[in-house]
This record gives sequence, C-alpha cells and structure tokens, in this order.
Amino acid sequence: MIRITELAQQQIAQVLREGDVAVDATAGNGLDTLFLARLVGSRGHVYAFDIQQAALQKTAALLNRNGLVQRVTLIHAGHETMAAQISGPVAAVMFNLGYLPGGDHSIAPRHESTRQGLVASLELLRRGGLITLVLYPGHPQGEKEKTAILDYCRELDSAACGVIHATLLNRSGASPELLVVKKFDHLL
Ligand SMILES: C[S@@+](CC[C@H](N)C(=O)[O-])C[C@H]1O[C@@H](n2cnc3c(N)ncnc32)[C@H](O)[C@@H]1O
Repeated sequence: MIRITELAQQQIAQVLREGDVAVDATAGNGLDTLFLARLVGSRGHVYAFDIQQAALQKTAALLNRNGLVQRVTLIHAGHETMAAQISGPVAAVMFNLGYLPGGDHSIAPRHESTRQGLVASLELLRRGGLITLVLYPGHPQGEKEKTAILDYCRELDSAACGVIHATLLNRSGASPELLVVKKFDHLL
C-alpha cells in the first residue's frame, strides 16, 4: 500500500542533510518531528509548531523516548507565525493538514493560516530546499483548503520553484494528497 505520509517523508529524505534546519509545521503526534530530528543529526535543529498543547506534549514524549528532545524546539503557536519565530535558511518544511489523531476534530488547519504558513516557509526555505503538504480533501474544510493551496501554488514563479501534486488515482476522492514544492538551486 502507498501511504501519502511516507511519500512525503521519502521526498524530504532526498534533500535533508545532517546539520540542516527543518520545520514541522504541524507537529501532531510527533512522527514527522521525530523523522526530521533523526535526519538533521546532532548538529542540526528542528522547529515544531502546533496550536494544541496536547499535540506538543505527545511530540515531546515521543522525542524523549527516543533521546532526541534536545534537537527540537517545540513552539505552541500557529505555523502562520513562523517568520516571527525562526530565521532561515531552512532546508525542509513539512505540513500534515489533518486532524490530530484521537484529538478534537473541530481543530484542523484553516486554509488562511496554511497559506500564510506556506508563504513564510517559502521565504525561509534555502535554495534546493523542499516543502511537503499532506492535504485531506475528504471533509468540507479540507476540500476548501486544498482548493486554496492549489490555487496559490499554481501562481508560484516557475523559474524559482517547481510543484508536484500527487494523488492516489485508484482510491476514493477522499484520500489524502501530497504537494511537494521545491525551490530550485538557481533561477531557471
Ligand atoms: C494530522 S496532525 C499532524 C500529524 C503529525 N505530522 C505527525 O506526524 O504525527 C495535524 C496537526 O496540525 C495542528 N494544527 C492545526 N492548525 C495549525 C496551525 N495553524 N499551526 C500549527 N499547527 C496546526 C493540529 O493541532 C494537529 O495537531
């Protein structure tokens, strides 16, 4: 089976190197934060955002269990505040835009804040860096968010970055989808 979240991690693993700085824009249960913390190594650093304290607690516990808490700064704030919280250059940013598994389903990322987070990520991203976004169009808010983010990505300067949109064609339209935004090493 193909998992969109794994596909996102595979893309990130191609660019993220030891010593890099990375961002988990939606920490949730911390699986992506842990993945990023492993890749950046002891010389690198990860910034992980979430608007829910419960998510950050789960992420902290997972990092503690794996002895990697010192590689991560947990930020209790929306990713739309990213530019004010960290400075670049950043090698990779991951967004996973669903609900916190087992959490409050009224708290899903909103398309205005996701768009702001994406704009901030592109500014912080170094050349050659990568942003992944896992979208969940299976619920009305997720569909609205997908439309807004795809519209924004279609307008991005094609000389500066490339965007891939991956969907599971032989699964239902409610399946998660992946957007990968790559900032080119140099302008085309
Ligand atoms: C599907 S979960 C993320 C899963 C996570 N990447 C993992 O590996 O476990 C989505 C998370 O996004 C968080 N979220 C929603 N809006 C946000 C925002 N504006 N900024 C940061 N996090 C947000 C939710 O609180 C939720 O915990």
